[in-house]
Amino acid sequence: MKVLVVGGGGREHAICWKLAQSPRVTQLYCAPGNAGIAQVAQCVPIKATDVEEMVKWARENTIDFVMVAPDDPLALGMVDALEAAGIPAFGPRKNAAIIEASKAFSKELMKKYHIPTARYETFTDLGSALRYIEEQGAPIVVKADGLALGKGVVVASTVEEAQKAAREMMEDKKFGESGSTVVIEECMVGPEVTVLAFCDGEHLVPMLSSQDHKRAYDGNQGPNTGGMGAFCPSPKYTPAVAKECMEKIFLPTVAALKAEGRPFKGVIYFGLMLTKDGPKVVEYNARFGDPETQPILSMLDSDLLDIFEACVNGTLDQADIRWKEGAACCIVLASGGYPVKYQSGYPISGLDEVDKSAIVFHAGTKLGEHGEYLTAGGRVLGVTARGTNLEEAISNAYAAARPIFFQDMHFRRDIGRV
Ligand code: AMP
Ligand code: GLY
Repeated sequence: MKVLVVGGGGREHAICWKLAQSPRVTQLYCAPGNAGIAQVAQCVPIKATDVEEMVKWARENTIDFVMVAPDDPLALGMVDALEAAGIPAFGPRKNAAIIEASKAFSKELMKKYHIPTARYETFTDLGSALRYIEEQGAPIVVKADGLALGKGVVVASTVEEAQKAAREMMEDKKFGESGSTVVIEECMVGPEVTVLAFCDGEHLVPMLSSQDHKRAYDGNQGPNTGGMGAFCPSPKYTPAVAKECMEKIFLPTVAALKAEGRPFKGVIYFGLMLTKDGPKVVEYNARFGDPETQPILSMLDSDLLDIFEACVNGTLDQADIRWKEGAACCIVLASGGYPVKYQSGYPISGLDEVDKSAIVFHAGTKLGEHGEYLTAGGRVLGVTARGTNLEEAISNAYAAARPIFFQDMHFRRDIGRV
């Protein structure tokens, strides 16, 4: 089969790496891809958000199956457009991808179907938002309604900070139209766990639980990033917690979307907080997480294309989904200054010396004139290793990363340990 993956980061490298192992995949393409993805797939220079060009290219090149990984093409309806062109595509349609594209929608859905989440109110008027913050007091959380690259959330410890965030979103349009509606919610406390789940519109199969590290610096300090590292499974996600999540959150979410006429096919990302009152939803995403996907797919023992097809065909209940024993960890090597301001174009050395049992997923790289790897983004590489247990996976990942170097390289030294 000729398969196309849409996207070009570390997550897409992990997806391509896994799909390339499927005996049924005869040709693998990735648009736009990156220099690391080019090791396993043919890269196609089309922007991930260019729905029209993507469909046209897929049709002209008789692609049999498309996997749409990032949030923005999903929110733009790329899956709908591919389906309309008769091309099977993995990922939610636009009307289901809204669980990520609109926080107001997803909060409303959870309220209607009694899915545990933080108490909240939605505002389109700045004055009312400011009054509500004053009444509720701090700590309190202010969120831009729409997509904001994971940066549209402010966990404020004072009323002033929360009001400033609301002003920036609603008045100064810091996130453009994404912030013209804001959700203001109760601040929850507890460890955070991510669960990604395959869905076919009706059935749901959770993957291994995982944890992400969103802050830029050690000890969970510094600004929020797309994610500085991740590991799986999470020791905090016990069988009892898993059972409760399945009954109170996962199955009700899939059933709610179906009942609303928005059946979800693809991967639902459950961002969970394990509070003293039980697990609650922090956020839904309509896709695989980045970097959670890197360790998770390194642990998958089954054919990923088979699973994707089962999701599209509504036969997930019969799919074979097995995981390796042990644990996996991914350390993100980022450009100095990320997520704020950073330079690109630096040569990356040491990649040949990385232990062969580890996998270096490329997030932001490009090839230089002489075929050398150069940095080309904030998150550059995701060094991923497995181990018989979490501690071993963490030390294997750090050991594998040791030979790699580029100017101003920055990474966290406490992934899996905080
Ligand atoms: P989100 O983009 O919704 O995942 O939010 C980013 C981060 O903000 C989350 O990973 C949490 O650490 C934090 N956060 C979001 N909502 C809440 C909440 N209601 N209470 C506490 N922390 C939150
Ligand atoms: N790692 C967080 C996300 O993918 O949204």
